[in-house]
Amino acid sequence: MRLIKVSDEEELSRMAAEYVFSKIKRSERIVLGLATGRTPLGMYRHLSKYSKEYKLLFSHVHTVNLDEYVGSRAYHAYMQENFFDHIGIPSNQTHLPDGEALELERECKRYEEVIKQLGGIDLQVLGIGENGHIGFNEPGTDFSSRTHVVELTESTLSANAKYFTHEKQPLKAITMGIGTILESKEILLLAAGVKKANAVKELFRGSLNENIPATVLNHHPSVTVIADVGARSLLEEES
Ligand code: PGA
Repeated sequence: MRLIKVSDEEELSRMAAEYVFSKIKRSERIVLGLATGRTPLGMYRHLSKYSKEYKLLFSHVHTVNLDEYVGSRAYHAYMQENFFDHIGIPSNQTHLPDGEALELERECKRYEEVIKQLGGIDLQVLGIGENGHIGFNEPGTDFSSRTHVVELTESTLSANAKYFTHEKQPLKAITMGIGTILESKEILLLAAGVKKANAVKELFRGSLNENIPATVLNHHPSVTVIADVGARSLLEEES
């Protein structure tokens, strides 16, 4: 696992955007796995700027998001507002789980099939939860899980409550499974702030622990972590 050390969220955003940008530029076709939440916002802002300079930058890009709340389109709205509306990507090249699907189990299977039909994910961008979750794979999730419906934990609900001022916060979500994420050819994990320090420390401890889902990334051959000073604070205290 490679660690890129940055000082703050602004530098993290710039580095992450450059990383993704260079992958896009170098490929003729690319499937990007995308994340929501606070951490990737700056990356999306920078990538949107690149797309103004480089016309058609996203014409050969396909995207698949990690997750969506059940009964909600909150993450669809997030992606439109913060990214898709700014980069001129054809809407049929962007994919998220449908949290409003009537048959959720069938939707999970459909989503797996979407990823398969695209030929798999070339580069998956991940955040990390305070409890070490990736996507919405909460502690205890089977490392071989595929796309599934999850009950969100207290920790995740309280971390994300701020986004639900106009809508009741859903208690469940559809998420790509850990097994699904692990099949990505390459992973870029972004961690910012002291709240992530414990999860980052556990991640770099190197041992697998189902109670801290991100530790499964120690099993993946190509993972890059960009972490700011706060997120590295406990890691560096130890070494
Ligand atoms: P955050 O979420 O970027 O809003 O901190 C990350 C996550 O929960 O995966």
